[in-house]
Amino acid sequence: MLVLGVETSCDDTAAAVLLDGRKVLANVVSSQDAVHGPFGGVVPELASRQHVRHIIPILDGALQKAGIGLRDLDGIAVSCGPGLVGSLLVGLSVVKGISFRWGIPYVGVNHLEAHLLAIFLEREIRFPYIALLASGGHTLLYRVGGFGDYLFLGGTRDDAAGEAYDKVAKMMGLGYPGGKVIDQLARSGSPKAIPFPRSRMKKGSYDFSFSGLKTAVWHYLEAQGKGRWEQQKADIAASFQEAVVDMLVRPTLRASRELGVDRIVLAGGVAANSRLRVTMTERTGEEGIEVYFPSPALCTDNAAMVALCGSHWLERGRRDDFYLNADADLTL
Ligand code: KG4
Ligand code: ZN
Repeated sequence: MLVLGVETSCDDTAAAVLLDGRKVLANVVSSQDAVHGPFGGVVPELASRQHVRHIIPILDGALQKAGIGLRDLDGIAVSCGPGLVGSLLVGLSVVKGISFRWGIPYVGVNHLEAHLLAIFLEREIRFPYIALLASGGHTLLYRVGGFGDYLFLGGTRDDAAGEAYDKVAKMMGLGYPGGKVIDQLARSGSPKAIPFPRSRMKKGSYDFSFSGLKTAVWHYLEAQGKGRWEQQKADIAASFQEAVVDMLVRPTLRASRELGVDRIVLAGGVAANSRLRVTMTERTGEEGIEVYFPSPALCTDNAAMVALCGSHWLERGRRDDFYLNADADLTL
């Protein structure tokens, strides 16, 4: 079965072609980082306009790379939420048009579900697993019991982990998106240099909170003054990152222990973080828990994961009609 995946939920225009639910024949992404960089975050109106500009060339690129034409497709999968509604509508409208013109069945895919299943693009793992989904828009913890079986355990009460990275990077004038830059800068700093606070939730909660940490970094920068903190950039980055990683790892391991699920999967842009990957590997190793993370390019937004998720549902006969709408707040 040949399935085209389309992803336009935020600021990446992406298309992929997947064979038989697993084999990636093409996976193309056009990033808008240069457009949003000067603003230090995604500007929704600019994002949708960029999607309009790039969607057709990206689709063409993916089909060409896979060596197929539209008429070869057995189905199409497209992210229909959550995300920026203007961005989602671009992908969804184009897919509806293709589906109608060529009579190809399509399904709308929940972007979060696609992230949770992205690991299957690279390896088969057994259910159940605890999934930590940390991106620019979400920080969520689930028990994944199978395809379609997602038990919500906790989520962020304020900023998402990636959002905290992006905002701290903006405060320090490091550019957008901040995650990758801070990850890189932190390599030459000490994670113990500055004892930034860790938020703690009440016993039994698997929730997260990153806004206190973000504010603490802001106060630290103010107190030091630009002349001084400019000299400590790497230490600030490493110490901030250590606090984020700590706050992500602790509830995830606790969920694994308390639910008796000895398998953890990381997903979302922040799962590309090198420190998170090392710390998670060490800590799970100590406790005999298996941990899996997709390659960095499959952690951040991509259409291959959308195609994988859509292939699964298409194979089981799911079809969407042309009344399907984009839903900015779609939940799992
Ligand atoms: O999954 P994603 O591409 O888009 C959303 O669905 O949000 O995640 C993007 C987020 C951004 O906030 C970005 O700063 C963060 O993931 N990110 C990272 C790294 N690479 C991307 N955060 C920490 N370390 C990284 N290496
Ligand atoms: Zn995402």
